[in-house]
Amino acid sequence: MNKVSDVLIIGGGIIGLSLAIELKLRRVKVTVLSRNFQEAATHAAAGMLAPQAEKIPPSPMLDLCLQSRAIYPDWIRKLEEITGLETGYWPCGILAPVYDAGEQESRGAGENLIANQVWLNQLEIQQHLPGISSEVVGGWWYPDDGQVDNRALAHVLLMAAQQLGIEIVEGVAVTEFVRENQQIKYVKSLVGDWQAERYVLATGAWSQELLPIAVYPKKGQMLSVRSRSVHLAESLSSTQELNHVLFGDETYIVPRKDGRIVIGATSENVGFTPDNTAAGIQQLLSGATRLYPPLKNLPILEFWWGFRPATPDELPILGTSAYENLTLATGHYRNGILLAPITALLIADLLEKQIANSLLSHFHYTRFTEK
Ligand code: GLY
Repeated sequence: MNKVSDVLIIGGGIIGLSLAIELKLRRVKVTVLSRNFQEAATHAAAGMLAPQAEKIPPSPMLDLCLQSRAIYPDWIRKLEEITGLETGYWPCGILAPVYDAGEQESRGAGENLIANQVWLNQLEIQQHLPGISSEVVGGWWYPDDGQVDNRALAHVLLMAAQQLGIEIVEGVAVTEFVRENQQIKYVKSLVGDWQAERYVLATGAWSQELLPIAVYPKKGQMLSVRSRSVHLAESLSSTQELNHVLFGDETYIVPRKDGRIVIGATSENVGFTPDNTAAGIQQLLSGATRLYPPLKNLPILEFWWGFRPATPDELPILGTSAYENLTLATGHYRNGILLAPITALLIADLLEKQIANSLLSHFHYTRFTEK
């Protein structure tokens, strides 16, 4: 039996690592068990920080997302200071163009008025972004949404965790919570057993492997192109350079500072079926090149896919569980990158100080079990 820490976090994606760092900074002894760091949804994401572009309606979820977006700059600064590395955090704003003028009203009416947003008409949006499709009739500009380079952030989190002396055990597939009454006694894995005072489930789309919990995979396929090329003909001209995320219907285009442009994403109920498909990539390319035709000539860099941790109501599952010493931090669906800092903060408060922020009650697992 490996007797470890005060807190054993199962899951080495962005949620598990962010929480581990928050706890360690509060002097809690913490260990992370990770099955496959590269497999986490963290790596597959586009890194958008987009509560407004994602059209999250006024709700505790929007409050949670806006709070997380608000603390992002300080959280990033802290991580970059610890490691001396960059995360590619970029509060670049998100432009949500529409093809149908009716969307001005439907989006505008549903938005939370505390959030900053501006409607651009056709002329304004064309002036704002030369090259955007002539089919676009206008769009919402969300100046406070933004992005982070999720892969860079994942690396920074891993480095920060290592520098802070957090024990991260990679390649450990936990197979079972061994329970006694309402307690977790220890966890079993293919390479031995692990015991701690308290446990956190942060295994995202794979959560059902350990608990009967309402989280299931929603596959997303993605690709990237290169905006700058040594061959001038293949580059975006300076007027076509993208400096904001474009968020269209079922298509988003995320320009990185290093010249890559990430294009996403499908949303498929196919379980854990791997691989990119011709239909998936066709959907992405036609959606993206319709929205922003200059993409047509850019060289493709990469295709990939990942599994979002979806829940029936598309909200995360946060807080206490049916077991006294097991806490849940999973099911972040489309917003795991955005919600990492607030999840770490609220769950650390719960574990360390037994303080349950009132927001947490809206994300309790019992919403699926009590009728
Ligand atoms: N957050 C964007 C997505 O899940 O595709």
